[in-house]
Amino acid sequence: MNIDTKLEKIDPRSIPHRKLYTGAETPAVGLGTFGSDRFTANEIAEAVLGAAAIGYRHFDCAAVYGNEKEIGVSFQKIMSSSIRREELWITSKLWNDKHAEQDVIPACRQTLQDLQLEYLDLYLIHWPFPNHHAPGLDVESRDPYAVPYNHENYMKTWRQMEKLVELGLVRHIGTSNMTIPKMELLLRDAKIKPAANEMELHPHFQQPEFFKFCMENQIAPIGFAPIGSPTRPDRDKTPEDTVDIEDPVIVKIANRLNVHPAVICVKWAVQRGQIPIPFSINPKEYFSNLKAVTVDPLTKEEMREIEGIDKNNRLIKGQVFLWESAKDWQDLWDLDGQIASQG
Ligand SMILES: NC(=O)c1ccc[n+]([C@@H]2O[C@H](COP(=O)([O-])OP(=O)(O)OC[C@H]3O[C@@H](n4cnc5c(N)ncnc54)[C@H](OP(=O)(O)O)[C@@H]3O)[C@@H](O)[C@H]2O)c1
Repeated sequence: MNIDTKLEKIDPRSIPHRKLYTGAETPAVGLGTFGSDRFTANEIAEAVLGAAAIGYRHFDCAAVYGNEKEIGVSFQKIMSSSIRREELWITSKLWNDKHAEQDVIPACRQTLQDLQLEYLDLYLIHWPFPNHHAPGLDVESRDPYAVPYNHENYMKTWRQMEKLVELGLVRHIGTSNMTIPKMELLLRDAKIKPAANEMELHPHFQQPEFFKFCMENQIAPIGFAPIGSPTRPDRDKTPEDTVDIEDPVIVKIANRLNVHPAVICVKWAVQRGQIPIPFSINPKEYFSNLKAVTVDPLTKEEMREIEGIDKNNRLIKGQVFLWESAKDWQDLWDLDGQIASQG
């Protein structure tokens, strides 16, 4: 393997693990692989290789990230070293233009082919809205066929996800970018219940109610943008957004432990019980994010202080999913407990 030998290796057994309702265990930190239009597929594939070499065993992929072929080459190299497939936890996601019943299984097979795998540990529906928009599109652009959440259609997609489990192509299925009202309907109607929900989670966006709901229902919360996604695409930035890694509480704790504030966000996430998937192609950064969870836990007081800096600041608002009559992005997130409908 092409590894940075200057970096210490972390024993994967020293990383905390989370047990899913099936009994399977996943490493409590994974490597994100979304390049945010800034990093190339090859840079990210190289990071996957380097991260595995220093001890990462959990990788968060998606068809829409446009790099599964390159990452597949890295997985092959990883598995031709001493790391066995069973030691890896690999997630991927069904993109929004593949929700139609006939598209789900072929989309998953394509991902498996690209990643050069026989099965996925976890396959998620990336967003609960079917939609067609080109990657990199401006957030103001709209799909003229966009519609609000439709549970009947979502369940048609979910039934195909269940078939993927029956076919042995995926071990677990799950959701992403959901809300409590949508999840309640899915739990009512699913034959195979979601094992995980990937959701935006960072100190300035803690989603306390939804987090609690997931924990109570044995749905593992996987936290995306755990550092507050400082390198997210410009189209996902708004003037109101706050910056987690500049928060005085985060900076103060980082100074105490002599680490970057990003590392504190990762520590907090794991100690709280979610599964963060921080992204970086920089070996020192991805090393420090993994190391973070094996040393120097935050104190109870620090955990309490971070709980107090939640700003309900959603960064990935999902504007491109809005339908013609929708008011604004808040309509996507069922803030009043009701699923928004056309009108
Ligand atoms: N399900 C979904 O809809 C969804 C949505 C968004 C993301 N995701 C997943 O979540 C992953 C993570 O989210 P994200 O990439 O948006 O954001 P993130 O992990 O919160 O932030 C990534 C950025 O943080 C900086 N960073 C990371 N570790 C650091 C360290 N130790 N010290 C200093 N800076 C550090 C890096 O910036 P520099 O390069 O400037 O150092 C990096 O580009 C994605 O890659 C993707 O796999 C899923």
